[in-house]
Amino acid sequence: MDQTMKKILILAAVFGFAAAYTAGAAEAKENWDNLCAKCHGADGAGQTKMGAKLGCKDFTDAKVQADIKDDAAFKALKEGLKNDDGKTLMKPFDALSDDEIKALVAYVHTLKK
Ligand code: HEC
Repeated sequence: MDQTMKKILILAAVFGFAAAYTAGAAEAKENWDNLCAKCHGADGAGQTKMGAKLGCKDFTDAKVQADIKDDAAFKALKEGLKNDDGKTLMKPFDALSDDEIKALVAYVHTLKK
């Protein structure tokens, strides 16, 4: 491999990484809209049929936001969430990577009004 080729490959790797990194926020919104909005609502207020049935809180409310701890939210998405009676509120999101879950937790915080 000659020097120019090597440089091109290194640049491609660097830019590829940067693109993947900045895609985080946009990807989180996409995941939110696809996986979460049917219960929590696109705006996070939880004003959906499922949200009302399951008791989704209003994520636009600063008081509710103050109770959402990143580690607990991460665990809820990774392992699922049940209420005190053992009824499933959220299933584990197995298809999401840890980074995707972290990006979603960060996204949830942006829903605060
Ligand atoms: C089947 C309906 C449903 C879906 C789909 C759903 N949730 Fe939930 N979620 C709930 C319910 C019900 C609760 C418990 C009440 C509350 O905190 O709003 C909850 C709680 C949460 C909490 C609070 C956890 C805590 O520790 O207090 C977060 C954060 C959250 N959901 C994020 C998400 C994200 C992100 C997605 C999409 C990947 C998602 N939810 C998908 C129903 C759902």
